[in-house]
Amino acid sequence: MGKIILTGDRPTGRLHIGHYVGSLKRRVELQNSGEFEKIFIMIADAQALTDNADNPEKVRQNIIEVALDYLACGLDPKKSTLFIQSQVPELCELAFYYMNLVTIARLQRNPTVKSEIQMRKFENSIPVGFFTYPISQASDITAFKATTVPVGEDQEPMIEQTREIVRKFNSIYGETLVEPEVLLPDNKSCLRLPGTDGKAKMSKSLGNCIYLSDEAEDVRKKVMSMYTDPNHIRIEDPGNVEGNTVFTYLDCFCKDEQFAKYLPDYANLDELKDHYKRGGLGDVKIKKFLNAVLQEELEPIRERRKEFQKDIPYVYQVLKEGSEIAQATAAQTLAEVKQAMKINYFDDVELIASQVERFK
Ligand code: TRP
Repeated sequence: MGKIILTGDRPTGRLHIGHYVGSLKRRVELQNSGEFEKIFIMIADAQALTDNADNPEKVRQNIIEVALDYLACGLDPKKSTLFIQSQVPELCELAFYYMNLVTIARLQRNPTVKSEIQMRKFENSIPVGFFTYPISQASDITAFKATTVPVGEDQEPMIEQTREIVRKFNSIYGETLVEPEVLLPDNKSCLRLPGTDGKAKMSKSLGNCIYLSDEAEDVRKKVMSMYTDPNHIRIEDPGNVEGNTVFTYLDCFCKDEQFAKYLPDYANLDELKDHYKRGGLGDVKIKKFLNAVLQEELEPIRERRKEFQKDIPYVYQVLKEGSEIAQATAAQTLAEVKQAMKINYFDDVELIASQVERFK
């Protein structure tokens, strides 16, 4: 059996460069590597509703934003199936059966769920759907028999929980589901890109994101006001590169050849860092360099997005056709699951024959 990818994003906002380095860029590379038999990219609207039940319009509006970001980054509907989670009802059915294989205590231990509950200040009013979304995520992954799930580091506990569900299912009902593997970014500084304010994570509510669709001028302004080293006050002061957001972004984005192009006094990032640490290198200079590096990466994405924006019905058509393929795939897995669980009463001729015998 060939390798299969499933991954996705919640449509709660436009995608930012944290999504890009954490997962999106890699997906496009994997797509173009030709190593995968099938690739499914899901817009997780049903999961987005688990903590946005009162704001369906937000989810609805952001589906097209995420789809545009996908296409702009180079996900190609000819190679990858792009679909919308809610259009595949089989996923709910799978989740319903998986729920019997997971304890409440296990969900409570899931570190991502734990921190999200804190962040959202749910306290004692956690929506059940939100609390159980790791189980629904296991359905997303297993429905497509995914072998490989490229995601950011924060999603690792979800994949671990999925693997447990798969093992439990297979041990009770027989080998049916495929145990997936997580694929994290290989550049460590891309694991969790901080916000432009230096806070741990890019998040819309903190207003510290650089979006893939931001105009060049907005990117420049955001870069020029980025958090650096608060103790690096005068140019001659020695500066810190650890925890310095500009350097974290450079670690993640810049390539050696960009020095020759934009900052020829240095051969590579190590030389630039050394100078900063010694003192005598100002923040404006490193920010201007970062801006040039980011613009180079983001410009083609932004331009492609604008092209797709001119044909919105096409984008919806892509999602519709993708959802149909996804639905057919998930239906096949669900049929196998129901057979394994012995809840396939009407297509089991032997069952009926044996009951005939029993009541003779
Ligand atoms: N939880 C993911 C996120 O917040 C989105 C998601 C839903 C997902 N189902 C998935 C990711 C299945 C990978 C596999 O971004």
